[in-house]
Amino acid sequence: MSLDAFRLDGRVAVVTGGGGGLGEGICHSLAAAGATIACVDLTEDKSLARVGDLRAAGASAIAVVADVSDSSSVEAMARRVRDELGGIDILVNNAAIYPARSWTEITEEEWDSVLATNVKGYFLCARACHASMAERGHGRIVNIASITLHGGWDKLLSYVTSKGGVLAFTRALAREIGPEGITVNCVAPGAFPTDAEKIHPDPEGYNQFVLDSQALKRRGTPEDIGNLITFLASDASSFITGQMIGIDGGWVMH
Ligand SMILES: NC(=O)c1ccc[n+]([C@@H]2O[C@H](COP(=O)([O-])OP(=O)(O)OC[C@H]3O[C@@H](n4cnc5c(N)ncnc54)[C@H](O)[C@@H]3O)[C@@H](O)[C@H]2O)c1
Repeated sequence: MSLDAFRLDGRVAVVTGGGGGLGEGICHSLAAAGATIACVDLTEDKSLARVGDLRAAGASAIAVVADVSDSSSVEAMARRVRDELGGIDILVNNAAIYPARSWTEITEEEWDSVLATNVKGYFLCARACHASMAERGHGRIVNIASITLHGGWDKLLSYVTSKGGVLAFTRALAREIGPEGITVNCVAPGAFPTDAEKIHPDPEGYNQFVLDSQALKRRGTPEDIGNLITFLASDASSFITGQMIGIDGGWVMH
């Protein structure tokens, strides 16, 4: 048996939010499998820092500054990746924001910005990367959702709503785009200790709550996420589409 189907040599992967906490594991795992990485983030410091680490590890990577909620910025990002790297095979829609407050305190502007980044941004990036995937007759889109969509979460109404949208978006797009040989899946992480966790006022109590909730008694790592995404980006997952895969140490077991 050969493990070649798990390799990504010669493939180009766009990772949005690549400068963030889970972005680290996603970029490094995809690169370790052989992919060239376009690390997309809002600011140059974040995307350049990640690309510096990737290159130091021997990977091929470029940094692209783009706002996923803005269509002209996303189109320019995809154009640059195609021009510099020759095409796009893999899109990981990972960038998201997660303002936490009671639902009666959410302003209309904040609601709109969460949906614009976390849902519209996924659509804009998929649309911008699609032409290149269609040309190649092959493509992988992996969207990051969240286990919070199963049972809701206190003080995260706009975020949880957006993640429910990511699941529906994944399924609907998978049907429409499957005939072109492009798969669309999403992963639903549990709790990972990134900046996202800083919204919790009692870090130690939250850490214990997470460990008590999981079947596995260790915290998840960015590498855990990266490994799953690398599988979903590879030929080894070519008959899987429209699915959501939980990665939460055995928390919700949905
Ligand atoms: N960390 C967790 O526990 C957890 C749990 C469930 C789901 N998730 C999901 O995982 C993904 C990554 O989260 P993370 O924990 O790494 O958070 P993070 O805040 O560390 O990373 C998010 C990245 O997205 C970037 N970003 C935000 N808005 C952007 C925009 N408009 N355009 C381009 N980039 C933008 C940020 O600059 C940041 O680098 C998100 O989709 C998040 O919802 C995380």
